[in-house]
Amino acid sequence: MKVGVLTGGGDCPGLNAVIRAVVRKGEAIHGDEFVGYADGWRGVVEGLTLPLDGHRCRGILPRGGTILGTSRVSPQQVSGGVEAALRTLADVDALVVIGGEGTLGAALRLAVDHEVPLVAVPKTIDNDIGATEVTFGFHTAVQIATDAIDRLHTTAEAHDRVMVCEVMGRNVGWIAMYAGIAGGAAEIIIPEEPFDIDAICADLVRRHQMGRYASIVVVAEGALPQAGTIPAPEREVDIYGHARLGGIANLLASEIEHRTGFESRVTILGHVQRGGTPTAFDRVLATRFGMAAIDAVHAGAFGQMVALQAGRIVLVPLGEAVGSGKTKRVPHDLVEVAEVFYR
Ligand code: F6P
Repeated sequence: MKVGVLTGGGDCPGLNAVIRAVVRKGEAIHGDEFVGYADGWRGVVEGLTLPLDGHRCRGILPRGGTILGTSRVSPQQVSGGVEAALRTLADVDALVVIGGEGTLGAALRLAVDHEVPLVAVPKTIDNDIGATEVTFGFHTAVQIATDAIDRLHTTAEAHDRVMVCEVMGRNVGWIAMYAGIAGGAAEIIIPEEPFDIDAICADLVRRHQMGRYASIVVVAEGALPQAGTIPAPEREVDIYGHARLGGIANLLASEIEHRTGFESRVTILGHVQRGGTPTAFDRVLATRFGMAAIDAVHAGAFGQMVALQAGRIVLVPLGEAVGSGKTKRVPHDLVEVAEVFYR
């Protein structure tokens, strides 16, 4: 078969490991040939292709980023984009789409409305895609954030400060929750549960009165204050209509310092969490996802997404993973685990 491959949305450690697995298994086991589309759906809409074979995939397993490039373009948002995408895709027998919420949402529409023969692979450091226990990239981001929090502890203790560390997490707080628990945070603030600045400050004052002399507060970029407490920060929008987040830590640190008198500092980890080499866990998960995706292509399992469930790779209808109400949120029982350490 001739199979197209694209990577879309924000990049994520492990994308290259998926591409490598799809191509190596496709060539070796199924006798496939491949074409890469440049920069996600943009390449499909504009007919921008890249050579893709086993040779091109050598040495890419540990590399972050994506050899195919990526963008947040979706065919449905470009005038004539769907028709152009269908023309380009007439050249392949199937498409492997590696992406997050936006990229897979566009894939779902093409599969449902136009019967495009595609198989989806979920990626995102945010870990917010439904129907899969975890996405590759998340583990790497958590490790990077945990390493940073470990480092913040020693400087916080030396100076007797509150350190507010902001991590990624647009709609959900998986990275904040995991890195916060792993890093021994005094407070973890996530988008799922709007925060009460008075309660946070009361916790910090109590900790310091008990003789603890420094606190790490971990906040997800998408976190917001409870309505009627302090004003929410203004949010800019990028060219794709996505809110450009980042900076809630500045608001928190200044409120904490003002209300408690504890000197506070801010660290915003930003795109460091998405860069560099994937952890071994993410390389293995990405490899398993890639192999399952090319097998699914040959099984004719179109409109499906590969997923991890109870340790096994399974196929789920793409509509069960993305779309309204499908976002995988941090459950409250994990919040309760974190809260034990707030006192
Ligand atoms: O990939 C998702 C994500 O990591 C979000 O947490 C974050 O808000 C967003 O990407 C930022 O991406 P970019 O700056 O590339 O638009």
